[in-house]
Parts: sequence; C-alpha cells; structure tokens
Amino acid sequence: MRLWLLCFLTAACGSNVTAQNTPSDAGVDAPARPRLETTDLPCEVDAILGRACHSCHGNVPTFGAPMPLDRRADLLAPAPSDPGKKVWQTVKDRVHLAPDAPGRMPQKPNLPLTDSERAVLDRYFEAGLPSATCSSSGADPKPPTVSCKPDVSVRPSSPWTMPKATRDEYVCYGFEYKPDLKRHITGLLPKIQNPKIVHHILLMQADGPVPSKPYQCDDFAIARYRMLYAWAPGVGGYELPEQAGLPSDPGGTHYVVQTHYNNTLSLDGQTDDSGFDLCTTDKLRPNDADILAFGSAKFAIPEKARHDITARWVVPSGFGDLYAFGAFPHMHKLGTYISTSVHPKGAGTAIDLGTDPRFDFSSQFFAPLPNVKLSPGDVVETRCVWENPTDRAVTWGENTDDEMCFSFTLYYPKVVTKPWSWGSPAFLSTTEVN
Ligand code: HEC
Repeated sequence: MRLWLLCFLTAACGSNVTAQNTPSDAGVDAPARPRLETTDLPCEVDAILGRACHSCHGNVPTFGAPMPLDRRADLLAPAPSDPGKKVWQTVKDRVHLAPDAPGRMPQKPNLPLTDSERAVLDRYFEAGLPSATCSSSGADPKPPTVSCKPDVSVRPSSPWTMPKATRDEYVCYGFEYKPDLKRHITGLLPKIQNPKIVHHILLMQADGPVPSKPYQCDDFAIARYRMLYAWAPGVGGYELPEQAGLPSDPGGTHYVVQTHYNNTLSLDGQTDDSGFDLCTTDKLRPNDADILAFGSAKFAIPEKARHDITARWVVPSGFGDLYAFGAFPHMHKLGTYISTSVHPKGAGTAIDLGTDPRFDFSSQFFAPLPNVKLSPGDVVETRCVWENPTDRAVTWGENTDDEMCFSFTLYYPKVVTKPWSWGSPAFLSTTEVN
C-alpha cells in the first residue's frame, strides 16, 4: 500500500505560481527516437513495427516499454519478462491477445494490429526470422497536436528527478491559473518532455491549491480531485466542442497534474517537467463546461466474491438539457468492468456514455463522447463489476483498500442549481445489486 502524502497548507505547500503566458519550447515534444538508416528486418515487418510499436519500442524505448523493437537482434534477444523466451515469442503472444485483454500490444488505447499485419509477423517468425535489408525504418511517431493556439503552460515549479532504482512512481504538482478576466479553456495539449520515463499523465482540478513542486503522490490522488483529461501514448490533444469552454475566472482555478513514471530500464539522472498546454480565449463560448461523476458510492463488495451493481440517476426536472462530451470511467484495483449509458425518457435506445469492458487500473483512458444529450427524466445507468479475492468486504472510499464506481464526465452547460456538487449524480443515485 502506498503512503499518503498529505498536503498541509503551509507556505511550502501552497502554490504561488501564476500562469506563464507563453508555452515553453524547451522540452522535447516528440519521443526522441533516432531513426536507423537501414535495418536488417524485412521492410514489411519493419513497417508494422514502425507504425504500431516504435512510438514506445523505438531505438530508445519510451513510455515504459522494456525493450527496443527495431532490429532483428532485438527480436532474438531474451524477453525482459522471461529470459527463457525470446522477444519474438512474447511479441507473437502479445499481438494475438484479444483487443480488451490486459497486456495486448500495441497497448490500449492504440488499436490492435490488423489480421493481415499479424499474418505478416507470424510468417516471418515461422520462417525463422531470416535476415534482410530495408532502407527505411518505419514511420516516425507524431506528437499530439491541436488546431487551436495554446497560450498557457501548465508546468511544475521545478523538474522531477526520477531515482535510478525506482521502477514506478506517481508524482503530482499543482498549478494556479488566475486570468485577469474570465476566460474559457477550449483545448488541451499534452506536453511530454521526457518520453523515456513518462508512462501516462492526467490533468485534474482541485478545490484548493496544491504544491507546485513535484512530490511523490499516490496513484489514488484522482479520488480527491476531479478528472479533466488523461493522456497515454497514442492519444492526441483534445479540443472542446465549440459550444462550450471550461471556465477560469480571476478567483483562480487549481489544477493538479499527476504523472506516472516508469523507469523500466533503471536509467540514471532522468528528469522531467511534462505538463499540458492550454488554449484559452476571452471570446467566451455560449456555455460553461464542467465535470460531474455518475456512478455510486453505496456498495459493499463481499469478501471472496464477484459483485455487480447498477446505479441509476434520473436527470432532475428543474434542469435544462445537458450535453456530455467526454468520460473517464474510474474504479480501483478490484474493478473489472464499468459502463455508463443514458436511457432517454419514454422510448429510445440507450446511448453509451463510456464503457470499459475489461477495466484495468494500470491503463485507464479518457473517452471522447459525441455531445450526448441528457434531458430531464432521462435515466443515466452506471454498471460496475468487481472481483474481490481478498478475505474482507470492500466499500466505497478514497484509500488504496477502498473501491470506486465513478464515471467522471465532462458536460455543458455547467449546473448552477443549488444544492449541487460534481458528485451529486453518483451520491444521489439509487443502487441495485445485479
Ligand atoms: C504506447 C506504448 C506501447 C506501444 C505502442 C507498444 N508497446 Fe509493447 N510495451 C509497452 C509497455 C509500457 C510494456 C511494459 C508493460 C507490459 O509488459 O505490458 C510493453 C511490453 C511489451 C512486451 C513484453 C516484453 C516482455 O518480455 O516483457 C512485448 C512483447 C511488447 N510490448 C510488444 C509490442 C509490440 C509487438 C508492439 C507493436 C505491435 C508494441 N509492443 C507496442 C508499451 C507499448
């Protein structure tokens, strides 16, 4: 169990950094992968590995990948997880896993290989990995982009230094954004400075200031903050629907960035100050956007059991129509399935509001939604399933040993009816055991 690092609001803890108005260009934006002039793999094999694998398994592995995959010798080397096997054997295993299976390569949210790509690799392995010459080495990975022009850089007050001996670390820092006049955030662009150690990065919003110097936090920090956006390799930048912007007013918005570092190769002296660039505008959009959570806090997962619940929340009659445009389904480590959908009042088929059929705590993702309309009387259903192998019952809570069933959802227009908090739909839902 990870230690909780509590932030007491002392001078060291309070953040006093203000927004820089120009994004820093100091960081390396694209994963630094020196491209080989020639490779001894056949071109058709190299093209697949280049397109689907090199963004992590390049000449210099990035984002936690344990080995490169751009020469024949890389495939013939002992597998990092099992030296009794060769890398090509684990490659064959991993690319044939079901799309939602944990460990499938390329990893979620990247799409699986196509059948014909798998067939090319299988034929090459069956032929005994003959040596070849190919002059081009796959496609270069593209850094995420947005069409808007970022004008605010969310960065820590100093870089984080990753200890050589640590494989896995969750690190948080806060960032205060205080524009002179109200502005709308319209786009989010992840800025990955050191891809050798960054595994994924989250942008969250807090109720109060969080220290601006990176500190070791726990992987459950999300439970205390509201999820805004999650980036993992393969995910692009994000732009809000043109009808809405996330409001930032002179009172200030407290952002928290959580980075998951993965130093699989035990590299020494690696530092990082990854963050997000924001596109903001003073030409306010018609609606303020906000975050809420669907789901439930009323459940008890019995010991040594599977537990399956459905939570229902009816959109109150006092509300106008709401539009959902992004979801981040979230559970803790016993979670195996989470889905949210809206059942329109009267007839109509249910519309998906984010489903993760093989929930995996270590690869959670943000799902953009196509502005799904929620009208008064519509029922939002969240189903959560857990497998509890432990010999104690587990209930809702923010600690490592507790569980969650929340689907953080970005929506507009922001609800201003009182009493209301971001968690109201989840806390006011009725929960039924299936
Ligand atoms: C987005 C980043 C990313 C992409 C793209 C990616 N991988 Fe991985 N890969 C990882 C990470 C991180 C690990 C370590 C965690 C794990 O084992 O699942 C890994 C582990 C592996 C392993 C396990 C090696 C061992 O023996 O432990 C294999 C095999 C593998 N990847 C093959 C591939 C292949 C083949 C592709 C392309 C078809 C691919 N990966 C694409 C990130 C990626």
